Amino acid sequence: MIGSSVPGNATATEVAVPGAPPSDLGAASSPAAPALVALRRAAPADANLMLAWRAEPSTRRYQPLRPLTAADLRARLAEQAGRVVDARLVGDVKWIVVAATGEPVGWISLRDVNREHQLGAVGYTIGERFRGRGFATAAVRALLPFAFDAADLARVEAIAAVANTASRRVLERAGFRCEGIARALLAIDGVRVDHARYALLRSDWRDASTGKHP
Ligand SMILES: CC(C)(COP(=O)(O)OP(=O)(O)OC[C@H]1O[C@@H](n2cnc3c(N)ncnc32)[C@H](O)[C@@H]1OP(=O)(O)O)[C@@H](O)C(=O)NCCC(=O)NCCS
Repeated sequence: MIGSSVPGNATATEVAVPGAPPSDLGAASSPAAPALVALRRAAPADANLMLAWRAEPSTRRYQPLRPLTAADLRARLAEQAGRVVDARLVGDVKWIVVAATGEPVGWISLRDVNREHQLGAVGYTIGERFRGRGFATAAVRALLPFAFDAADLARVEAIAAVANTASRRVLERAGFRCEGIARALLAIDGVRVDHARYALLRSDWRDASTGKHP
């Protein structure tokens, strides 16, 4: 469902709730169940909260997050906030993941959008104290209609450090398939780390949401 209202500062056109077809791949919630999360576009006012999540050691453990000032992040969010998510989208867009209580619990992004090949990548972080409740999985599911329908992508990719079991589970539960290991892909704290490469095709996602499994 797109356009549900969410407590807090969600805007009507920028909210996706997992559980409603065709985004649901089976576990975030049923259409009759309350939604676990909603997504709203990240705004400059979210910069301090996002920086606090970025600073958590467990968030940095598997991600090569470069130093970012509040001013830089605010400027980046201001530029992205007005970006329309449709078949012309290029670059990156970020959303805040909002729990059913209205509390912001993390962020999710669609990035590296390539129009020529209809590709994009998903990335996400959930604040330490909100983990283990299914928020990341629900957020990925909620993002997929934006990626495949609104942004008209044919393939959404993701990478996760091989040892990042929680992130790999999130992707697998959202229907992504592991396509192999990219050896020494990224340097994290000066150490080159192997990453699992994942992807979900629009055709797989549509088949799953209509019950047609290939
Ligand atoms: C990865 C992350 C987003 C998961 O968020 P979350 O809201 O806790 O995820 P969910 O609750 O939807 O699902 C997590 C899954 O991983 C499992 N999991 C959680 N922590 C785990 C751990 N330390 N080891 C193994 N599995 C773990 C959960 O059991 C669940 O799997 P299940 O459904 O089979 O039980 C969160 O841990 C995080 O923000 N980590 C730091 C940033 C990061 O690594 N981002 C991804 C970069 S690729």
